[in-house]
Amino acid sequence: MTRNARTLARAAGVSVATLAVALGSLTVAGADETTGVTPNIVGGSPADIADVPYAVALTDAAGFQFCGGSLVAEDKVLTAAHCVEGQDPSDVVAVTGRTDLTTSEGSETPVTDIWLHPDYTGVTTGADIAVLTLSSPVTDAEPVELASATDGPGYSPGADATVAGWGTTSEGGPSPDTLLQGSVPVTSDEDCAAAYGSEYDPEGMVCAGLPEGGVDACQGDSGGPLAVDGVLAGVVSWGQGCARPDFPGVYARVGTYAEDIAEQLTRPATSP
Ligand code: ARG
Repeated sequence: MTRNARTLARAAGVSVATLAVALGSLTVAGADETTGVTPNIVGGSPADIADVPYAVALTDAAGFQFCGGSLVAEDKVLTAAHCVEGQDPSDVVAVTGRTDLTTSEGSETPVTDIWLHPDYTGVTTGADIAVLTLSSPVTDAEPVELASATDGPGYSPGADATVAGWGTTSEGGPSPDTLLQGSVPVTSDEDCAAAYGSEYDPEGMVCAGLPEGGVDACQGDSGGPLAVDGVLAGVVSWGQGCARPDFPGVYARVGTYAEDIAEQLTRPATSP
């Protein structure tokens, strides 16, 4: 995470300290109208893994959950490139079928291969996607359908999207052990560009969040799913803080990369 944070900080052109504050998990916060910050975190709404059966927790070999992902085939997990950049597959484990990470519900499957999108150079330049190959197919999770068009229904401004993960419940705050989910409307390209300027690339990214803030992904949710009507529209990527007014969460736009991802799904797990 430190290495990833540094990479991310470089990519975002901010200091690691700033980034530590800027990254946060699934946050449902009461926005303070006077300061614009989110001091009173009331927590996301608890979800059961059965509600999001494709949600995957990525842990290191020691069991520390550092990112999320989505099962996209029985032995493939889609996550964010910044989650696994520079990591050895043997340091990544995919946890499926588990709501509460302190339990042994579901299963833990080793990762044997990491594919990073070749265009990925940093979160603010897009292509923040990676496909992990698992050592064996999982049977306690269900693959999610990928958005296939860049302008499909999942990308209409205002569409009701659901983000899920085990990330922190406030900027710099603690991570819950259990899965949380939140509803966030898809943001128009204009509004997202108004927040992030040229760092928002509508080609490779899509934003979601309430104008008043209060619900968002945060640190540890990266790589996890943003779904609209059960179809995967986004991968948690970055944002300014978490759940801040006027700063929606930024997601990799799955529809843009659907063909690249599909190519990875048909590639034999053992090919070089
Ligand atoms: N980059 C963060 C991570 O690695 C996720 C940040 C998402 N931020 C947001 N405000 N939606 O977990």
